[in-house]
Amino acid sequence: MAAVPEGPVRILLIGNGGREHALAWKLSQSPRVESILVAPGNGGTATCPKTTNVTDVSPDDFPALVALARANSVNLVVPGPEAPLVAGIAKHFHDAGIPCFGPSPEAARLEGSKTYSKDFMKRHNIPTAAYENFSDPEKALAYLDSVSHNVVIKATGIAAGKGVIIPSTKEEAKAAVKEIMVDKAFGSAGDEIVIEEFLEGQELSILTFCDGTNFQSLPAAQDHKRIFDGDLGPNTGGMGCYAPTPISTPELMDLVNREILEPTFRGMRRERNPFVGVLFTGLMITKDGPRVLEYNVRFGDPETQTVLPLLPASTDLADVMLCCISGCLDAVDLKVEDKFSATVVVASGGYPGSYAKGTPMTVRTPSSPSINIFHAGTALDGTQLKTSGGRVIAASAVASTLESAVSEAYAGVSHIEFEGKFYRKDIAHRALRPVASEGLTYAQAGVSIDAGNALVERIRAAVSSTRRPGADAEIGGFGGELDLSRAGFPGGPILVGAIDGVGTKLMIAQAMDKHDTVGIDLVAMNVNDLVVQGAEPLMFMDYYGCSKLDVASAASFVEGVAKGCAQAGCALVGGETAEMPGLYHGKDYDAAGAAVGTVTADSRLPRMDDMTEGDVILGLASSGVHSNGFSLVRKILSRAGLALTDPAPWDPSISAGESLLTPTRIYVRSLLSLPKGSLKGMAHITGGGLLENPPRTIPSHLAAEIDLQSWNRLPVFEWLQKAGGVSDVEMARAFNNGVGMILVVGAEKAEEVTKGLEALGEKVNRLGRLVKREGEGVVLLNSF
Ligand code: AMP
Ligand code: GLY
Repeated sequence: MAAVPEGPVRILLIGNGGREHALAWKLSQSPRVESILVAPGNGGTATCPKTTNVTDVSPDDFPALVALARANSVNLVVPGPEAPLVAGIAKHFHDAGIPCFGPSPEAARLEGSKTYSKDFMKRHNIPTAAYENFSDPEKALAYLDSVSHNVVIKATGIAAGKGVIIPSTKEEAKAAVKEIMVDKAFGSAGDEIVIEEFLEGQELSILTFCDGTNFQSLPAAQDHKRIFDGDLGPNTGGMGCYAPTPISTPELMDLVNREILEPTFRGMRRERNPFVGVLFTGLMITKDGPRVLEYNVRFGDPETQTVLPLLPASTDLADVMLCCISGCLDAVDLKVEDKFSATVVVASGGYPGSYAKGTPMTVRTPSSPSINIFHAGTALDGTQLKTSGGRVIAASAVASTLESAVSEAYAGVSHIEFEGKFYRKDIAHRALRPVASEGLTYAQAGVSIDAGNALVERIRAAVSSTRRPGADAEIGGFGGELDLSRAGFPGGPILVGAIDGVGTKLMIAQAMDKHDTVGIDLVAMNVNDLVVQGAEPLMFMDYYGCSKLDVASAASFVEGVAKGCAQAGCALVGGETAEMPGLYHGKDYDAAGAAVGTVTADSRLPRMDDMTEGDVILGLASSGVHSNGFSLVRKILSRAGLALTDPAPWDPSISAGESLLTPTRIYVRSLLSLPKGSLKGMAHITGGGLLENPPRTIPSHLAAEIDLQSWNRLPVFEWLQKAGGVSDVEMARAFNNGVGMILVVGAEKAEEVTKGLEALGEKVNRLGRLVKREGEGVVLLNSF
């Protein structure tokens, strides 16, 4: 083993994230540390005391790193990320006689291979989620059929933190297995997978120093992995963190030490792979006790930015690391201040999807010494600081209460400015508002609490009990059907009915006091659902409920309904206005409507049996956001601080409210004008957006392959995505993105149908085609 230095320490730190800035910041406080080279570093390490960035050496070129270390008399190497550790950097440096703080490549398998780490935990009775390893997709699928609990599917190799899928149904689980093992969505990381039991509870991250035998932990931290407040949206590298957490009581930490950390380090030693370095144990605190979710063989990000500031100046991090390497960690008293720390990560709008790079930024130094700004994706271009990554920078603060640590960290965020700056506003919500947030978290983790589906399941029997000849009484399609010819009206057509409301778009109409367009939306939501079954809408009825009837707004609303009916060619045959004081508030109203139409058996759509691979998908342009996704729209507006009366950033000629109230396009007349047999199927892009509606019209062995670059999105969607930092997939699920109706046509008919619809005033784009289904029912190509 390389001899550790006794005098001055010259460090080579590898990495370029927020974690590495925090490490450089803390290491530079050590009186023994003379210099720190960071390869490659970032805009923050560039200005850290004693620190120099080295950008001309690739962080995975070990011989070049050894040469760099030798040339600078480095006597302590600190690899930040897992990749070099898994690739054996520690051994490489030890062989070169230079001390390196990190596990051997054998010990690094705790992170590098999920199958190794799960088997290790089994060998040593370390509590973790029940699991099985699979290298054969058929066996994995059969296992899924055999288990009744919810599962998590993990690619076994390192998959850049993305190799974890939490399916909400068995079908999604099977699709994920195919995606990882057959389609190789994560490349060779998916040759083997682990299928785990889904664990419920709160997560904790524990960083533990170990010298192979002795170990000492830093305070338990809680990371926020999802991009949006309330733990919504896709997973990220971590959007914020706090420590210590109220759930990490001394009793719990004793249990973690006894049942998890001791057996882990002892197990590694007994298997002759002593762990030297820092181990990140990701725990789920379930009602049955702590369970290991994963091991990482390095510091966490943003956990490091949160916990290192809790070490007093007298705790010398370089000394702790050197003691780990020389096997005398028990000589160190790892003091931690009795305070709280919180970190808020500031990301580029769009992250974790695509985002801008190279945006100029300014960072003012906070006057309070308890606030630290840690850079991650930043770079200095001359003297100008610019963004260079998704997670750009973070503000951390230490205080005597968690509340004040959080508010100081947010004060730190106000010192950071760049265009597209995005951050979560609810860091530490589980600790500060424990009860309210709990329900949300589980629902959003993709657990089976899909209230809509649960309702459908529960009411299925009641619905079936109403069957009568001609009515299949099945629920779930776009519209309901009743075949008059089998219901006692020989020769009659099939009746098709649809019922729907306007949703929270009504709140925008009410806030704007503009009621003449939402009636059109109400009709559109219904008749567009009818026409996709090939039906011609014939009549419409509406219902309007309010607390106190305001004649002007109610009349304006119903006039809108009449206008929509005229566009759809159906008669407004009835309605109901209900005044129910106390049920609604103030000037609120709600509205619903139902459309009824007919179709003959030979015009019924979709014709799923006729659909084949290569059929063309056409998209008809929408007029705007239509009537779905408004909860997200309102959230984005409030995050952007945009009032409805402000000029719309995407169309400054009108207000944001007016623009958003653009009524939903009604496609009925043009679609019904097409020659019979032109179309094989259609899908109205309603709730569930471009992801969930196309599969409703195509058979389960086919998928709709949609090229996101095949049409021009309306500017409103560009703005929503940017302002909300919404990923492409979330955009596709929440919104129509400029396509209000999709059509499936035989390839030979695509041209003719396009021309026909264009002649009727529709804007038509060719979005893609039907392909063999391997996973999801919609496959997105490219990005918006
Ligand atoms: P991993 O990379 O294994 O830490 O997984 C990433 C994230 O997926 C974790 O931080 C958890 O939020 C979640 N996760 C992983 N495994 C499980 C599990 N067995 N039960 C519940 N959530 C899990
Ligand atoms: N914050 C999670 C990680 O570093 O893996």
